[in-house]
Amino acid sequence: MGVHVPVLRDETLAALAVRPDGVYLDGTFGRGGHAGEILARLGPSGRLLVMDKDPEAIRVAAECAARDSRVAYRHDSFATLADWDATTAGVDGVLLDLGVSSPQTDQPDRGFSFQNDGLLDMRMDSSRGESAAEWIARAGEREIADVLFTYGEEKQSRRIAGVHRRRARGRADHTDRAAGSGGGEGTRRWRVDGETSGDAHLSGAAHRGESRVG
Ligand SMILES: C[S@@+](CC[C@H](N)C(=O)[O-])C[C@H]1O[C@@H](n2cnc3c(N)ncnc32)[C@H](O)[C@@H]1O
Repeated sequence: MGVHVPVLRDETLAALAVRPDGVYLDGTFGRGGHAGEILARLGPSGRLLVMDKDPEAIRVAAECAARDSRVAYRHDSFATLADWDATTAGVDGVLLDLGVSSPQTDQPDRGFSFQNDGLLDMRMDSSRGESAAEWIARAGEREIADVLFTYGEEKQSRRIAGVHRRRARGRADHTDRAAGSGGGEGTRRWRVDGETSGDAHLSGAAHRGESRVG
């Protein structure tokens, strides 16, 4: 643990103001960079509760807990932290370092990489739920567009969803194909299995979609 310097380490730890006998919760353990810094500031009676949705992150957390009795871990979303018995008496501070971790982006099969091709999984918790590839295969065009627009703030949501449904159904299951589905300024041109947005049929479909919402 603590092999890399965690993001905003000094600022984060200053804000947490760790008391040696306090109880702290790291809701996004990752590889334990911040957790290690908290532990270094806790005394023998302090406690560190850690959570993560990622099974690999929790495997590392379990190793940490086996080495250090001040640590307890739970494989779940931090959204459920109040359901964890360990938090019933309250905590002195909560840290949430939101985003993907570099081990997640480094592994192509997790589906977060723009650099390397891999199955479009994109689950933080790969042990449950459906992958992004499975969702794309069953979702309607409007639903895909709404998700891209609402959660991704993607202005070309209709256009991207339209291409996926018309041209890439059953094939938009890899990160290189999904990443190539951008268009317009500041993003890559459309690319679905080698084709580009110069295709008149694609442009027409995109135009109709965009006029509805995104
Ligand atoms: C940026 S990394 C955290 C890195 C960590 N602070 C460190 O120093 O190693 C974000 C982590 O949050 C986890 N995560 C994302 N959403 C989560 C959620 N709702 N509940 C728990 N963990 C979540 C991811 O699996 C990932 O491991």
